[in-house]
Amino acid sequence: MRDARPDPGQAGALLLDWYDRHARTMPWRVGPRDRLAGHRPDPYRVWLSEVMLQQTTVAAVRDYFHRFTARWPTVQALAAAKDEEVMAEWAGLGYYARARNLLKCARAVADLGGFPETREGLLALPGIGPYTAAAVAAIAYDEPATVVDGNVERVMARLFAVETPLPTAKPDLTALAESLTPRDRPGDHAQAVMDLGATICTPKSPACGICPLTALCLARAAGIQAELPRKLAKPAKPTRQGRLWLVRNGPLWLVETRPDRGLLGGMTGFPGDGWDGSGGAEPVEAAWRDIGEVRHTFTHFHLILRVLAAETDANPSRGSYVRLAPASLPTVMRKAYDLAEKTG
Ligand code: ADE
Repeated sequence: MRDARPDPGQAGALLLDWYDRHARTMPWRVGPRDRLAGHRPDPYRVWLSEVMLQQTTVAAVRDYFHRFTARWPTVQALAAAKDEEVMAEWAGLGYYARARNLLKCARAVADLGGFPETREGLLALPGIGPYTAAAVAAIAYDEPATVVDGNVERVMARLFAVETPLPTAKPDLTALAESLTPRDRPGDHAQAVMDLGATICTPKSPACGICPLTALCLARAAGIQAELPRKLAKPAKPTRQGRLWLVRNGPLWLVETRPDRGLLGGMTGFPGDGWDGSGGAEPVEAAWRDIGEVRHTFTHFHLILRVLAAETDANPSRGSYVRLAPASLPTVMRKAYDLAEKTG
C-alpha cells in the first residue's frame, strides 16, 4: 500500500540501518561502530559543533572547529579565553551573536563544573536554545530528545507529504519528527535524519533512487518531493548603502571594536557610516581616495559600501591604530581590506 501513512517505527529502523552504513565522518562525531563499542562523544565538542553548524554548512565549519579545539581543548579553557580572542577566531563564520553566546555559555558551564546532562538542564544555560539543547542531549547523552533543523523539517515534509507551507507547518513537522524519535539510539537517529537531509533528501533534486525511505515516502509516491517543503514568500531584502573609512598610518590600520549589540557586534572593523539609512552622502575631502565598493548580504538586507582610503598619522577621533590580522576581520570588513591591499 503505497499511500499508507509511513510507520514511524519502520522509518526509524530504516534510517538507523542506513546511518550504520553511511554515516558521514566528522571531527566531533563518534561514528555508529565506535558508539556501539561504548565510546561516548565529548559534550564540549558536540556543543561547539552544533553552535557552529547553525546557519552554516559542515564544510565551512570543519577548519574553524579544528582551530577552536586546538586552541581551547576543553570548555574550561574556552571559558578562560579573552572575548576578543574568541571573536577573532570566529571571524568569517558569520552570525556573530553566536560567538558571544558561546562564551557566555562556556563560562556558565565552567562555573557548574561541567555540562548538564539533560535537555532541561542544558536549556537553562545562557545562550542555549531549544535546538542546541536537544542536539547535545540526544548526541552526547542519548536522551530521546527530538532535534529539528531545516534538514529535518524537509525530510518530514516529504516523508509525510505535508503541504502546509513553512513556517506555518513547523509545529506539525516537529510532531512528526517526535513520532520518529526512538528510545534506542536517539543520538544516532538525530544525526541520521540530519545526514539524510544534507546528502540525499537535499533541497533540489533529491536522490530518491538511493534513499532508504523511498518506499515509504508519500511525497515521492505523489511525485511532489522536489516541491516540498512549501514556503511562504519571504519579503524581498532591502539594500542599504554606506561608507567605510580605511585609514593607514604606516604599517598600522585604524580599527574599532563594534558595540556588542547590533550588526557584527563585538567584532573588529573599520569605521563606517550611513548603513542605518542616513546615506553618508556628503562630499568627501580630497585626501580620501575612493577605491571602489564592497557588497555583502546579511540576514535581512544587502549592503553596498563605498570604500574610502587615506594615509595619515593624525590622532583618530574614534578607534585606534593597530597591526591588523586580516583573518580576525568579519567577511565584509575583510572584503574592504582585500580591496585596499589590491589597489595599493
Ligand atoms: N547539522 C547540524 N548538526 C549536525 C549533526 N550533528 N550531524 C549532521 N548534520 C548536522
